[in-house]
Amino acid sequence: MYNEIDWDMIDYNQEAPTEEPARQYYYIAKCREWTRKFERENGRLPRSCVVNMGCQMNARDSEKLEGILEQAGYEKTDREECADFVIYNTCTVRENANQRVYGRLGYLHSLKKKKPHLKIALCGCMMQEKQVVEKLKKSYRFVNLVFGTHNIFRFAELLNRMQSSDRMLVDIWEDTDQIVENLPVERKYSFKSGVNIMFGCNNFCSYCIVPYVRGREKSRKPKEILEEIRRLVSDGVVEVMLLGQNVNSYGKNLDEPVTFARLLQMVEQIEGLKRIRFMTSHPKDLSDELIRTMASGKKICRHIHLPLQSGSSRILKAMNRRYTKEQYLALTEKIRRAIPDISITTDIIVGFPGETEEDFEETLDVVRQVRYDSAFTFIYSKRTGTPAAAMENQVPEDLVKRRFDRLLSLVQEISREVSSRYTGQVKEVLAEEVNSQDASLITGRMDNNLLVHFPGTAADIGRLLPIRLDTCKGFYYMGSRV
Ligand code: SAH
Ligand code: SF4
Ligand code: F3S
Repeated sequence: MYNEIDWDMIDYNQEAPTEEPARQYYYIAKCREWTRKFERENGRLPRSCVVNMGCQMNARDSEKLEGILEQAGYEKTDREECADFVIYNTCTVRENANQRVYGRLGYLHSLKKKKPHLKIALCGCMMQEKQVVEKLKKSYRFVNLVFGTHNIFRFAELLNRMQSSDRMLVDIWEDTDQIVENLPVERKYSFKSGVNIMFGCNNFCSYCIVPYVRGREKSRKPKEILEEIRRLVSDGVVEVMLLGQNVNSYGKNLDEPVTFARLLQMVEQIEGLKRIRFMTSHPKDLSDELIRTMASGKKICRHIHLPLQSGSSRILKAMNRRYTKEQYLALTEKIRRAIPDISITTDIIVGFPGETEEDFEETLDVVRQVRYDSAFTFIYSKRTGTPAAAMENQVPEDLVKRRFDRLLSLVQEISREVSSRYTGQVKEVLAEEVNSQDASLITGRMDNNLLVHFPGTAADIGRLLPIRLDTCKGFYYMGSRV
């Protein structure tokens, strides 16, 4: 394990090992030599700032980058203007995510003019797009390092090369079948953690760029996942979030296939672990075995995120989602029958090419029938290279915007009603952080993912506490201790 390694015992004057993770350990040792030199010259450690711009999987990748940087001898800062090294971990799921990166790069350029030794790196999903890298090479030469999602495990090696070079270094892989275990990770929260159970996606929903930038679906072995969770628990973690683009197809391609439900049952056995979450569930692959496992589970949170995307069977077909409106509704009913108190949340896209008023009404109809606890709503964004981007019948922007507003107000109205159903009850709440507005309050999370603010101190953080839910304020509760 990396935390048992004495980096100073690694002889980095020898040639680098070829196998992983030994090769990265070697480069971490080499990076430490560089940071020590920086410290001697500047009287302080170099500071690094990792900015996460994407989903939970990206956030977990950022923790891996932080882990390497910490072991390499960098000091962490949240403020870009104080950093000697800034790294943007990008997302490209919608166009506005890309625009944000270019905007912020302009700002970094101005920082670099004042502070020429500042190093800038870009990684993550957006870097897997050819036209992005071309644009960076042409117009953003001040960026020092560009790498992608498939070679993130090589970060220590790339960091070492970047440290001793002033040239722009670009290393993007098309794909990989490698999963490198046992690299350093630095968690954002001491008491909860994401855990990758799989990488990539094979579904090719026609609007979505993720399969192109994250590659084919690969599952980690149950043994590796369980060992990681045991280590996390012994380090103070009480809640894990199992991460994958489609956790319901977990394990299908392993040499010894395992179902996701079976994996959950094994994770449940881990002593000291209190809560298990997972995301995301694709409706087409959600099994009865999973529903039974959730219903009988003691630690599995009563929450399922089940993206609908559209309520129209016609649009769902064009989206290549492989379920119909009726199948989706039947599935949510089945889940509710087995687990009556479950919270169901979703993702919905408005304005997919060819969406008519009737199609949109079908989406509203599903929202009314399922009564989601909450829903993320998105305006369809055209992603170059996906089948939907080439569809001719794109919906005019102003029409989409009006539909989006109608959907949002319905979702919010229902969410307010549904969320208030626990008023007066006592629920177990995981204390997560001191409230940012009022330091006498702690913000915690119920197992259905709703937030609760209640009186407390920093000493409560990481503990599961019984809290009375006094008043519902729409999307959160004000509570008191019992
Ligand atoms: N694997 C997950 C989704 C990951 S992307 C799943 O299948 O549910 C998260 C969400 O972004 C999606 O659920 C979808 O609602 C939204 N999304 C993806 N591509 C999009 C696009 N081109 N335009 C708008 N929203 C999109
Ligand atoms: Fe994208 Fe569909 Fe894969 Fe989710 S399942 S990541 S929406 S292609
Ligand atoms: Fe996540 Fe965005 Fe990549 S949603 S997988 S960071 S494109």
